[in-house]
Amino acid sequence: MAQPRGQWSGRLGFILAAAGSAVGLGNLWKFPYITYENQGGAFVLVYIAAIALVGLPIMFAEIILGRRSQLSPVGAFRKLAAGRPGGSGWCAVGYLGVAAGFIILSYYSVVAGWTLRYTWMALSGELGRLAAEPGALDTFFGGYVADGGAQLLGNGLFMATTVAAVFFGVKSGIERVATFLMPILMVILLSLAVYAATTPGFGAAISFLFRPNFGELTSHGLLEAVGHAFFTLSLGMGAIVTYGSYMGKETSIPVSGLAIAALDTIIAILACIVMFSIIFTFDLDVTKSAGILFTTLPAVFFQLSGGGLLAASFYILVAFAALTSTISLLEVVSSFSIDELGWSRHRATLTMGAAIFLFGILNALSLGANDALTSLNVFGDTHLGVFNNLDYLASNWLLPVGGLLIAIFTGWILSPRDTLAEMETGHPGSRSWFPGWLALIRFVSPLAVGAIIFSIIFLGMEYQ
Ligand code: PFF
Repeated sequence: MAQPRGQWSGRLGFILAAAGSAVGLGNLWKFPYITYENQGGAFVLVYIAAIALVGLPIMFAEIILGRRSQLSPVGAFRKLAAGRPGGSGWCAVGYLGVAAGFIILSYYSVVAGWTLRYTWMALSGELGRLAAEPGALDTFFGGYVADGGAQLLGNGLFMATTVAAVFFGVKSGIERVATFLMPILMVILLSLAVYAATTPGFGAAISFLFRPNFGELTSHGLLEAVGHAFFTLSLGMGAIVTYGSYMGKETSIPVSGLAIAALDTIIAILACIVMFSIIFTFDLDVTKSAGILFTTLPAVFFQLSGGGLLAASFYILVAFAALTSTISLLEVVSSFSIDELGWSRHRATLTMGAAIFLFGILNALSLGANDALTSLNVFGDTHLGVFNNLDYLASNWLLPVGGLLIAIFTGWILSPRDTLAEMETGHPGSRSWFPGWLALIRFVSPLAVGAIIFSIIFLGMEYQ
């Protein structure tokens, strides 16, 4: 049976917690490198369009599902689908979300663990020493990810911190951490951006990001933009349904949804400005773009004055961003156990946190430490190892399929009268633009997501 549910203290609490979920490695690690690979400009514009036309409508939909049902995803679908086409079959979307949360957290926290090690190394001076030696950062990184003990330590520390936050519940755990960390994160990022503006590469970074050249945009880039919109906004797996279920009736869905998407986008773009200013200042040839964060950037930090401090603030920033995201991933799995299995919050967070950590060992050891795990090949040669296979599964399948089903459910299965009523709760003036949202959630979002899924199945494309 459901126990009394936690609730955010108000609109700001919800916005900061959900923005905390959205802002993470997706913004600071993945977005800059896929923007680099897709030549900036036009890709950035398409990405912003994907956020506005696909991400935002689904964000509203997830909040509606959560707040209307006051339940985590499995229960939310069961309750809202009762008596409607598909009935309790829709619960499968909730289960899919819980599975996605479990899987994503199991590898996401491995990368999050790296930020702890790099923060420590920046502070201790070790990173500075490595940066002074050509090639040493690459060698270090390769050795570090292949060191099973170090990976388990980083992952374990990060999971323990995540469990500690979720353990204390919605208001005293999740919201408190987010309200503390998100402003600090903004301050660090803004300071780094101000710093970036003084570097000679700033102008080149701005024109790279904001001068579109549509000739450079590929269909692959288009899909990548839509796929990343899901990941970065934490959509398609019920994280926002879960957070929406703790939202008070007085809180406006469109205002908070817009604020979350805007914060997420601004932070992703600021991160690009910081990184590209530095990259262009030093005219770096970025060969392995996925390694920008852990191999390219540290080399450069130490060529700038105050490099140690710069590097430390940067990795603390990434660690904070990752933590508020891992918290939301664990909350999806925990709230499922609380609502559906009747567990106490303490039991749910400890048991699920431990289970995810244990499962995550497979990821932690699949970056070189264990041969069999490192060479696992389910999805083809470009995704070797358990870690990459699971990321591929989650980003290319679980989130887009989950998002598509959420859009179809909210747009076509729920009655517009109900969704309008929920939208108007906390935002009385919603009637005027409601038809616009309905058109997006019924047609534009499913078609865009359907196009992704179609292209993966029939054209063999990927967008991670
Ligand atoms: N939005 C997070 C990021 O951009 O790093 C990742 C994420 C968190 C995805 C929570 C899904 C989720 F439920």
